Amino acid sequence: MCDDLNLLLSNLNVFYRKLQNYHWNITGKDFFTTHEKLEEYYNSVNSQIDEVAEVIVAKKCHVMATMKEYLETSQIKEAESKPVKSCDIWNIVLKDYETLIENCKKIKNEAENENCAVTSSIMDEYIKDYQKKCWMISQVVNC
Ligand SMILES: [Fe+2]
Repeated sequence: MCDDLNLLLSNLNVFYRKLQNYHWNITGKDFFTTHEKLEEYYNSVNSQIDEVAEVIVAKKCHVMATMKEYLETSQIKEAESKPVKSCDIWNIVLKDYETLIENCKKIKNEAENENCAVTSSIMDEYIKDYQKKCWMISQVVNC
């Protein structure tokens, strides 16, 4: 389970940087709403980064803690440092949240098999959070 938790940690770290990159580089007439929403999203991801890392440490596993390791292992890829429209942002962010859902479902199954109620319940919380965001984002991607 620790390998998949480290993969989630890696994905969340790259995703955090990517969301803040978009928060800075968003251009277009909907700048204000997208800029603000991205801040809400990366702050939420930041809390999850610390929570997942501490779950890993509590299991007495090695916790990945360097950008080098995150970039080598993450399924979520960084965005380029350049201006970007909100429609492009939301199409990519939607796919990234779908990646995180798959990541969490796998951990949830492993946690259930190992009778690890706390990890299982944290994954439920994240899956619920990501699914709600996917639904909301899907309302704005047809642009
Ligand atoms: Fe800001």
